[in-house]
Amino acid sequence: MDWQKLLVNGVLAGGLAYVVYQAYARRQSASSAPKVSKDERLRGEVRYQYSAYAESPDVACAKGAPTWGYAGMEEAKGVPLQRACGGGCPLTLASKPVTKGEVVVDLGCGAGHDAIIASRMVGKTGKVYAVDTTSDMLKVAEENATACNVPAGIIAYVHASIDGGDNGGKDAMPANVADVVISNGVFNLTVDKGAAFKTAYATLKPGGVFLLNDCCVEPTPSVNADATC
Ligand SMILES: C[S@@+](CC[C@H](N)C(=O)[O-])C[C@H]1O[C@@H](n2cnc3c(N)ncnc32)[C@H](O)[C@@H]1O
Repeated sequence: MDWQKLLVNGVLAGGLAYVVYQAYARRQSASSAPKVSKDERLRGEVRYQYSAYAESPDVACAKGAPTWGYAGMEEAKGVPLQRACGGGCPLTLASKPVTKGEVVVDLGCGAGHDAIIASRMVGKTGKVYAVDTTSDMLKVAEENATACNVPAGIIAYVHASIDGGDNGGKDAMPANVADVVISNGVFNLTVDKGAAFKTAYATLKPGGVFLLNDCCVEPTPSVNADATC
């Protein structure tokens, strides 16, 4: 028996088996990895950007966000607007003022300044639901409300995505409760705008109003996952 030949052939066969096994294992792990859709990637990117903004106000598109509608507003006194990143005050868009005892839902509350203002409008007999998909932003909103002495219990914080998705939050959206739904600079960030409008509608009581403050672009740009706003 040619032991030398046998040894060489054995090593070659072993090497080949190893290469084939590695290719098989790589294929298996690629096919078993959870597939993330483009929509979920975009939602994740939005949450990532707003978590970064919650950590540091220097990281964001929000610098110089318009504060239209807040000037001279009694309920806005002392409310920190530095973290506002919407398009001005949605509450001043109402044809009738928000009143004591009403229920307001803020879709995408961010740092929570509109929710604080709404809490002063509805008072202790009313309720404000501050909804956001980014848990870190909800924490900032809660801290701001505490700093503004909002009595406990008026604002409820809801961790949820207004346009659905797989990992947008853990709480159920309030349904059929709101006299007024507001949203300020958020719909432009949603992947499924139809779903976001359905959420606003489902949140309203019959006869409630939806006050939307947002931006849109004409013509519609191609989706750029690097854009934060
Ligand atoms: C431009 S900021 C506006 C925040 C606040 N409304 C304001 O006026 O400053 C957008 C906020 O919407 C939240 N957001 C983005 N997509 C969302 C979604 N699908 N559902 C709920 N909140 C969302 C972000 O986490 C962020 O806090």
